[in-house]
Amino acid sequence: MYTANGAQAALRKVTVPAIRSRKAWLGKRESADGATPISMVTAYDYTMARLVDEAGVDMVLVGDSLGMVVQGLANTIPVTLEEICYHGRAVARGVQRAHIVGDMPFLSYQVSPVQAVESAGRMLKEGAFESVKLEGGEPFAEHVHRLVRAGIPVVGHVGLTPQSVHALGGFKVQGRGDDAAEQVIRDARAIEAAGAFCIVLEAIPPDVAERVTEAVSVPTIGIGAGAACDGQVLVCTDLLGLSRGPSPKFAKRFAELGDAAVAAFREYVRDVQSGEFPSPEHAYKPNRVSDSAPRAETASGSVVPIRR
Ligand code: KIV
Repeated sequence: MYTANGAQAALRKVTVPAIRSRKAWLGKRESADGATPISMVTAYDYTMARLVDEAGVDMVLVGDSLGMVVQGLANTIPVTLEEICYHGRAVARGVQRAHIVGDMPFLSYQVSPVQAVESAGRMLKEGAFESVKLEGGEPFAEHVHRLVRAGIPVVGHVGLTPQSVHALGGFKVQGRGDDAAEQVIRDARAIEAAGAFCIVLEAIPPDVAERVTEAVSVPTIGIGAGAACDGQVLVCTDLLGLSRGPSPKFAKRFAELGDAAVAAFREYVRDVQSGEFPSPEHAYKPNRVSDSAPRAETASGSVVPIRR
């Protein structure tokens, strides 16, 4: 296990059964020593993945949020299977311990369970993912079932499903009102029964998230779903304060790295313009030590001063 600050930790790969067993919220309520809540963070490249993994995060999600975060799109709909696989390979190179989940892009699985198996298979073979996440409840239970039967672990995703942004009329809180809350619970139960090993709950009221968490035996992982979940997930750029403009209400900024980055870039511009950068300490040793120093030819043919 990792220590609280992520340092000096013995490395042990986080597996699907290990995640499946961490039903923290119910454990917390039933006894003082419930399982430790699951932490999940998005990452889209090698550098971020290494940092996230070093910190001891349990699950790294290559989310289709990369459409917005990396590509600057308005929503996740245009993201392709090839793009998810490309980012998955980069992330996998940076991760040693965390479990790596990939988002199934819009229309890579909705058409049929067969399409879902073909796309998820490519994600495991070409994208280096260890499990896939797909959005949707009852109508997608058969898809989840077929994936699980093929040996592909599945993370469910109910509540706000961003790939349905147009059908939902925007990125809005779901599960408000008795009927809508019951539907979210039915969706989560259907995905659990189909074999998902954990379920993301996005943008639902905390009391609804608590009811879902009680209703299913697999861990729930909340984003904008309050504290009564078995784990939490955030988008890395929100968490680090790298996103510009207002953050979603639920996205706590644990740092302000965007401001720090702008300050560093400004200082760089100033130093380049003033000639202060690069100084001798940021340059290689000069080729010519002095005009009078004796010289020798290297194997590659360049002439270098002989240092005594
Ligand atoms: O794409 C994504 O980043 C996600 C998280 C918000 C859960 O699906």
